[in-house]
Amino acid sequence: MNRVSLIAGNWKMYKTVPEAVATAAQLKEAVKDISGREIVIAPPFISLHPVSQVIKGSNINLCSQDVFWEEEGAFTGQISPGMLLSAGCTYTLIGHSERRQYFGETNETVNKKTKKSIDQGLKVIVCIGEALEEREAGKTFSVLEIQISEGLKGLTPVHMDSVVIAYEPVWAIGTGKTATAAQAEQAHQFIRGKLKEQFDTGVAEKIRILYGGSVKPDNIDQLMAEKNIDGVLVGGASLKVDSFSRIVKFT
Ligand code: 13P
Repeated sequence: MNRVSLIAGNWKMYKTVPEAVATAAQLKEAVKDISGREIVIAPPFISLHPVSQVIKGSNINLCSQDVFWEEEGAFTGQISPGMLLSAGCTYTLIGHSERRQYFGETNETVNKKTKKSIDQGLKVIVCIGEALEEREAGKTFSVLEIQISEGLKGLTPVHMDSVVIAYEPVWAIGTGKTATAAQAEQAHQFIRGKLKEQFDTGVAEKIRILYGGSVKPDNIDQLMAEKNIDGVLVGGASLKVDSFSRIVKFT
C-alpha cells in the first residue's frame, strides 16, 4: 500500500500572530518545490486565519491543535469544527498528550471530538502514546490498545478515511530522547494490527501512522526508512524554518 507521507509541525504555544505569519511565509518559500508528500502546520488558534491567508494556494495544509465537539453554543473559550473550517483548517490535532496531561482530555473526549470533527468535514490527527512509567511497567501495548479502542469507538471505515494516528511516546516529547526507529516501528506495527482487528485490513493498510517525540533533522531519515512510519509530528524542530524544511525534505 502506497501511503502519502505526512510531515506535520505542532507549534504548541509558541509564536505571536506576526511571528506565525512571518514563519509561514518563509516556510511556504522554503518548501514550494516539494510534491508527493503532505505538509501540515498547526499554529495556535489565534494565528490560524492569518496564516491561512499566507499559505493559500500553497502545498501547506493548516491544522488546529484542538477542537470542541459541539457545533455552537454557550461554551466559553471553545472552538468548533465548523469555525476551524471557516478559518482555513483542513486538519485538527486531537488528544495530544499535553491536552491529556494538563487539560483533562480523556479517551472519551477524544472520541467525541473525533466523531464530530469528521462529521463536520475536518480530517483528524489522533494522538496516542504511553508515559515513561507505563513503558517501564511493560504496559505500552495495553495503554495503546485502550487509547485506540476507546478513542476510535463507533467510527466506521468511512470515518477512518479522515483519520491519521500520531504515536507520541510521552517520554520522548521535548526531552531529546527519541524512540529508536526500531522502537517506533514496533509500536506502529502494533497499532496497525489493532486497527485491523477493530476495523478491517483495508483501514489498517490505508491509515497513516506518524511518529512524534524529539524528531530532528538528524534522525528523520532513519525514522522514515521504517515500513510502518508514514510521517512525523514535530514539535520543537518545527518552529524554525530551516530545521522543519529539512525534515519535510527527508530522503
Ligand atoms: P518535540 O518534537 O518537541 O519532542 O514535540 C513532539 C510533539 O509533542 C509534537 O506534537
